[in-house]
Amino acid sequence: MSRVALLFGRLSGLDDETCALLEIAGLLHDLGKLRVADEILDKPDRLEPSERFVINTHSFETYQILHRIPGFDDIAAWASYHHEEPDGSGYPFHLHAADMPLPARIMRVADIFQAMVQNRPYRRGLKRDEARSFMRGLAEDGRIDADVASVLDVNFDAAMSAALATA
Ligand SMILES: [Fe+2]
Repeated sequence: MSRVALLFGRLSGLDDETCALLEIAGLLHDLGKLRVADEILDKPDRLEPSERFVINTHSFETYQILHRIPGFDDIAAWASYHHEEPDGSGYPFHLHAADMPLPARIMRVADIFQAMVQNRPYRRGLKRDEARSFMRGLAEDGRIDADVASVLDVNFDAAMSAALATA
C-alpha cells in the first residue's frame, strides 16, 4: 500500500519530505495487526462480531506503537487514521474529513484500492474496470476523499501497477 500512497502523494503535489513520511506511514499502517491473534487474521471464514471487533483494534494499536517514537507524530497519525471515514463513522478516533490531513486521506484511499485489486485468500482481486467503478462509487457516496479519488481516477493504470507490484 505504501507504493500507492507514495504515488498519490506525488501526484497530489506533496513535497519530498512529506512523501517520504507518507511512504513510511504506508509501510507501517497495519503494524498493530501484530497484536491480533493469527487465528483471527488468517481465518478463512466469515468473522464473528467479536472477532471483527478485535481486528478493528489494529489501527489503534498502530497508533499506540508509533506515537511513542520521537519524530513519528505525523507518521503515527497518518498510519493509524487509515480506517477513519469522512463522516466520522470510521475508527479508531471517529475523525471527520475536516480533521484528516491530506496524507491521512491518501492512506485511506490507497488502503481500500490496494485491498480491492489484490488477490486475497478468500477472493480474487477486482479487474481494472470493476475496481474503477467501485472506487468511483465510494467517491460518489462520500466515503473517500474526492480529491484523492480524482487523482486515482486520472492515473488509474499507474495506480494499478503500484498496487500489483510485487518487488
Ligand atoms: Fe488496516
